[in-house]
Amino acid sequence: MGVVASAPAKIILFGEHFVVYGEPAIVLAIDRRAYATVDFNDDKSLHVKSSNLKLEGCFKDGMFKVEQGDAREARSRFEPVRLAVEKVLAKYGANVGLNVEINSTVPVAAGLGSSAAVVAAVTAGVGALLKVKMSKEDVFAIALEAEKTVHGTPSGVDPAIATYGGSILFQTDTGFKPLEVKAQIPLVIGDTGVERFTRIQVEKVRKIADNYPQVMEPLRKAAREIVLRGIDALKENDLDTLGELMNINQALLYGIGVSDESLEWLINAARKAGALGAKLTGAGGGGCMIALANDEKLGTVQDAIMRAGGRPFMARKTDEGVKIERT
Ligand code: MEV
Repeated sequence: MGVVASAPAKIILFGEHFVVYGEPAIVLAIDRRAYATVDFNDDKSLHVKSSNLKLEGCFKDGMFKVEQGDAREARSRFEPVRLAVEKVLAKYGANVGLNVEINSTVPVAAGLGSSAAVVAAVTAGVGALLKVKMSKEDVFAIALEAEKTVHGTPSGVDPAIATYGGSILFQTDTGFKPLEVKAQIPLVIGDTGVERFTRIQVEKVRKIADNYPQVMEPLRKAAREIVLRGIDALKENDLDTLGELMNINQALLYGIGVSDESLEWLINAARKAGALGAKLTGAGGGGCMIALANDEKLGTVQDAIMRAGGRPFMARKTDEGVKIERT
């Protein structure tokens, strides 16, 4: 039967991309989760299957053999899983074959941290199967290493929220601090359906930062101020201010080139329908946007996103980080 572990997806309320440059970000774990079922196999291989992506394949003796779907896609999607599994096995001196099956309710490559959630769930699942005691810090460290292979220079925000859950203030040098967010933040998430790759988006911003350091500096400062004002607005449950700050944050993200037509379309539709604020979330260039609205407007905003061609869904924040569902 094996072990089942899970980890949450996330939305970044403020601060994506600028967080890679050391600025703070506010991140909320949401009630969409990735599940990993992990069990031993007899042939010393690592067999990985993703039901959602309809991909399946096997790593053995440094080779990868695809069993379902496109070989290159399967290999690249499973690479962080392989790395995470190898790191857990090496850390605890285990030499075993494993079957890993991934089931997820998180849209893939959409800015919601699906890859970090999968890796955190797999890491914790393998630890539980080996019956070793892994702290959340251990899971985070391994998930971060695995993320580096796919994202290049990640800030660590995705593996942090997938591991710890809740609402956090994240910064690369000081780590993360749990944030008190008492009220439910009424958000609609709109998926553009356009897949994008975090690494490419992060590289795009890197070019702008390298070419125009004096332009980037005040943008970074503005992003930091938005986060600081955002912390107070969250404490006071001041939705109007949060909405305004989201709109300003979106303008900065547009400025550094990470928004795109598919996102702008949904963001404008949400604002016209009465959202208090709307912005992309995560890496941008497609993926998801979020809209904040008063309860009575949530339905209208959701309809508007759908009519504009997006896939809207409501998400609630969750306190639950990575966890073992079944041993
Ligand atoms: C991706 O969810 C968030 C980015 O800021 C990248 C990172 O922080 O690693 C775009």
